[in-house]
Amino acid sequence: MLTFALSKGRLADKIFDMLRKLNLCDINIDSDDRRLVIESGEFRFFLAKPSDVPTFVESGVADIGVVGKDTILEENRDLTEVLDLGFGKCRMCVCAKVEDGDSYKYKTNLRVATKYPHIAKGYFDSKNQNVTIIKLNGSVELAPIVGLSDCIVDIVESGRTLKENGLQPVTTIVELSARLICNNASLKTKYDEISDIISGFSRILKER
Ligand code: PRP
Repeated sequence: MLTFALSKGRLADKIFDMLRKLNLCDINIDSDDRRLVIESGEFRFFLAKPSDVPTFVESGVADIGVVGKDTILEENRDLTEVLDLGFGKCRMCVCAKVEDGDSYKYKTNLRVATKYPHIAKGYFDSKNQNVTIIKLNGSVELAPIVGLSDCIVDIVESGRTLKENGLQPVTTIVELSARLICNNASLKTKYDEISDIISGFSRILKER
């Protein structure tokens, strides 16, 4: 039995789709389904909040998880990233008002608003720049517009949210996509089952 921690929605649907293609299970859930634990064949699935997926995997209650690279970096858990699934591509950027250009680089005591304090702090520490991190839970783009921060660290996908609010990406910190993660002990004790999943998923990704 292999246990997956997934986040409900697009990511879970893609994983169910790949498992169906590999004839490993025939699961299909609709958006009305409220179950949090689903069993199918040799698999059990936990449907968790994306930011909690690494917690389930690190603890070992789930063997495998699927989550964005942003969450892996932010949560910084003791687990192993085994495969880049290639979907959900976007990037983590420092963004600022268009008229501010790259002036954030030269500001002392820079105020940075973000949903990702760990990633943001790590980035500015690596640049030896002193920052005050302002943790927000969403609509981060508001912060520089209303004067709460000088810049933001946030995910940029299409760039529309920034553009429509007079902001722009100035520096890319890291490229992001969905990743397959594994519990470290499960990688040893369930090596064969996990290897089958990794090679099956890799095959599907190559065919695309
Ligand atoms: C994310 C991110 C940006 C937006 C980027 O927000 O934080 O705000 O998507 O996408 P775009 O480049 O395609 O415009 P999300 O939709 O998760 O909502 P939130 O702002 O409430 O976190």
